[in-house]
Amino acid sequence: MKRAAAKVMNENQNTSERFPVPSAVRIGTDLVSVERIAKSIERESFLKKVFHPNEIEQCKKKTHPASSFAARFAAKEAFFKALGTGLYTEGMGPLDAWIENAENGRPKLILSEAAQAQLQRLGVCSGMDVSLSHDAHMAIATVVIQLSQ
Ligand SMILES: CC(C)(COP(=O)(O)OP(=O)(O)OC[C@H]1O[C@@H](n2cnc3c(N)ncnc32)[C@H](O)[C@@H]1OP(=O)(O)O)[C@@H](O)C(=O)NCCC(=O)NCCS
Repeated sequence: MKRAAAKVMNENQNTSERFPVPSAVRIGTDLVSVERIAKSIERESFLKKVFHPNEIEQCKKKTHPASSFAARFAAKEAFFKALGTGLYTEGMGPLDAWIENAENGRPKLILSEAAQAQLQRLGVCSGMDVSLSHDAHMAIATVVIQLSQ
């Protein structure tokens, strides 16, 4: 096929045909100030209300605990954005989604039964992934949910 004809054909295709997406994908991202979280985690009551015991244990061992806590806070917000509900709505709270690190450091998002039930309302979840990044000032998290229906 001549190059010009191929270009026209490509322009006539819609985006999903050019970049096939086999199923729906939901994405959520959130950016958090490390300083804000550093102040909040000085209060034991905040820590326990917002972070799962496993997160508290893991973050306290990190080189910069406040940055890791901030990234986990961002991950919770990002998950609820991906879900479409937001945090503190529809009975969901920060303890309904938390991060655990694999042995190689890779973060994994764990969901409470209530959050899993919310997720099922979107369809069948065929995959979920989370990525964290942080420095001394800011922390960011992105969550992707793949739905097969
Ligand atoms: C993993 C790595 C890319 C992190 O990058 P960095 O610039 O040092 O730090 P960032 O702030 O961007 O990211 C830190 C977060 O990365 C995540 N992370 C750590 N290891 C990871 C891995 N193997 N895969 C994915 N994410 C990882 C963690 O969630 C970490 O935050 P946490 O310790 O609070 O949980 C870096 O440490 C590295 O290159 N490690 C060695 C190679 C490796 O394991 N690569 C795999 C990913 S390509």
